[in-house]
Amino acid sequence: MNYKIVVYSWTGNTAACAVSLQNHMDIDAFLLVEEKERRGNQGFALGGTQASLGVKSKVKELPDLSDTDVLILGMPLWAGTTPPAINTFLQQCDINGKKVYAFCTQQSRDASKKLERKLSRVVTKKGGAFLHLFVMRVPHGKQLSVEDAGKITEKWAERIRAGG
Ligand SMILES: Cc1cc2nc3c(=O)[nH]c(=O)nc-3n(C[C@H](O)[C@H](O)[C@H](O)COP(=O)(O)O)c2cc1C
Repeated sequence: MNYKIVVYSWTGNTAACAVSLQNHMDIDAFLLVEEKERRGNQGFALGGTQASLGVKSKVKELPDLSDTDVLILGMPLWAGTTPPAINTFLQQCDINGKKVYAFCTQQSRDASKKLERKLSRVVTKKGGAFLHLFVMRVPHGKQLSVEDAGKITEKWAERIRAGG
């Protein structure tokens, strides 16, 4: 099985999860980088609006998934849904026939059911098999480190390896 992590992160929390998961699983990771840098409060407000409208953003490069069997897609929760860079990835990358896990970081306690439903719908429509969304809560004002993420991502890695 070839695994690949593809992740978008604006302020670093989801990237910390990705690195931590990558360390546990010893697999490749690809960071989606937007062409236009988001900054400050304006970046926050625009990001929320774009996410809620399902907007796509230009990303510098997209990953090659030709050898990937199991995709692990990481993102922050924005306005209860996928951020624009993830919308672009989901529209443009071929995930047909792939197993797909996702993980998100978020501030709130709720279980991201809306995000899970959306990912399941989009992945299925594109011919992939959506298996599970892992959620990590990062309280407001906290910056997640790779070490902080370690215990939880270890469990994610076990579940992904087990194929469940
Ligand atoms: C534009 C924007 C919208 C957000 N919307 C939500 C939200 O709807 N629910 C939530 O729990 N957290 C929300 N957050 C908080 C992020 O999901 C959280 O801080 C996440 O850990 C950030 O990940 P990152 O550091 O990888 O960018 C939002 C953050 C941003 C910037």
